[in-house]
Amino acid sequence: MELLRVKELSPEDSPVGAGGAGWCAQLVIGLQFWLSYDGDPLHGQKWQEGSATVFPLLEERKFDERNSAGLPAAVPDARANHLKTLSVPQGQFALARYPRLKAVALRAWDAADEYLLQRLAEEQLPGATASVLVLNDGFGALCVALARHRPQLLSDSHLAQQGALQNFRNNDLDPAGLRLLNSLQEPDGKTDLLLVKIPKRLAFLEDQLYRIRPHLHARAQILGAGMVKDIHNSTLQLFERIIGPTSTSLAKKRARLVFCQFDGGNDPGKSPYPTEYRLENSSYRLCNHANVFSRESLDIGTRLFLDHIAASEAPRRIADLGCGNGVIGIVAAERNPAAELFFVDESFMAVDSARANFAAAFGAQRKARFQVGDGLADVEQDSFDLVLNNPPFHRERALDEGAPGRMFEQSEAALKGGGELWVVGNRHLNHHAKLKRLFGKCETVASNRKFVVLKAVKG
Ligand SMILES: C[S@@+](CC[C@H](N)C(=O)[O-])C[C@H]1O[C@@H](n2cnc3c(N)ncnc32)[C@H](O)[C@@H]1O
Repeated sequence: MELLRVKELSPEDSPVGAGGAGWCAQLVIGLQFWLSYDGDPLHGQKWQEGSATVFPLLEERKFDERNSAGLPAAVPDARANHLKTLSVPQGQFALARYPRLKAVALRAWDAADEYLLQRLAEEQLPGATASVLVLNDGFGALCVALARHRPQLLSDSHLAQQGALQNFRNNDLDPAGLRLLNSLQEPDGKTDLLLVKIPKRLAFLEDQLYRIRPHLHARAQILGAGMVKDIHNSTLQLFERIIGPTSTSLAKKRARLVFCQFDGGNDPGKSPYPTEYRLENSSYRLCNHANVFSRESLDIGTRLFLDHIAASEAPRRIADLGCGNGVIGIVAAERNPAAELFFVDESFMAVDSARANFAAAFGAQRKARFQVGDGLADVEQDSFDLVLNNPPFHRERALDEGAPGRMFEQSEAALKGGGELWVVGNRHLNHHAKLKRLFGKCETVASNRKFVVLKAVKG
């Protein structure tokens, strides 16, 4: 975005012509704009008019010197260097990311979490008996800070759930006090306080709001939080259309809050998810839940990969690692009729889509295994002949930069001697170097302008 702004100042684009003085003046104005630009797509728009929204309180509660879990306001175990201290009105909490990154020590929360917790404290929320539902808490920062209220955490991410449990333990909180729900499950009872960390995929937010609406009390308090770059008009329109009147806070440390009021008379209709598309050059129709990678059509990297999946009559064990809707494993199963397939993804919606798509493609006779988990971390070592992997290439959850490297290490452990790991990836990601380091050798099987297909064989 920032580079774009500077480019907008080129002499060709200048309304005063290409003269040096005019161009320089524009450059100065442009640089000032660039330096002051806050990356906020809602800057000065109508949604901010409601920033003074006042919430009626369900119940009042005073904050004392203890954190919300009833512990003294001190960090129990921040000495370990991967833990960082979150200081909010609810207390101080020692938090770590999950999975732990080897090299970088990043925080397990963001400014939107802090802003939201601050706001809750100002509004004296939640009330003592309020039922609290948190959506998409990245590493459990919100749930840990609100642990006293025994929140339910609803998330599509296995890693996020594990992160929340780990952070409960890091703060000497009983993980039994956290009820974990996956994105396809319904919360228990009706919700008094709904906290939504805004996810990156708009379709996923839409689906979540449809699913949650029937579980809201008429006077439920609904607050969203996210970084300004992730909150657009379209985000707010979703809240307004599906739940009720919506406004936002002012931006603070590049974070923003969303305030929404439940409108019982509103009828948003039915959720459009899951959706499906027909896989090109096949009769397969692929069903996709809202949070599935490349939900609307075949990804172009995956397309190159599919062209190179080998056929064999051997009874091989094949893993589709990071399976998404299962398209890679389904094509591999078709070309390897005697193979046993294993599908794994850290997204509940992905694995559910893959399971449905495999069943629709092959019927009940052909068995396969499906797992929600951290890649191949939990599989038996030396047990696979072939691992197929299109690793995540941008930070889906903004959180797991180490995923491709971890997936390659897991594959190396899970493969039998002579077993093969095939990877498709964007050229610039340089997976080649990582694979060579791990396997000793890495061959380029195919490439086009953007993608490469790589093969590494376990010695
Ligand atoms: C680039 S997508 C590929 C999806 C599918 N294989 C395709 O080609 O359409 C990467 C997938 O990896 C999954 N993923 C990310 N981290 C993971 C992890 N630690 N364990 C398992 N799956 C993971 C994501 O949820 C996503 O579905």
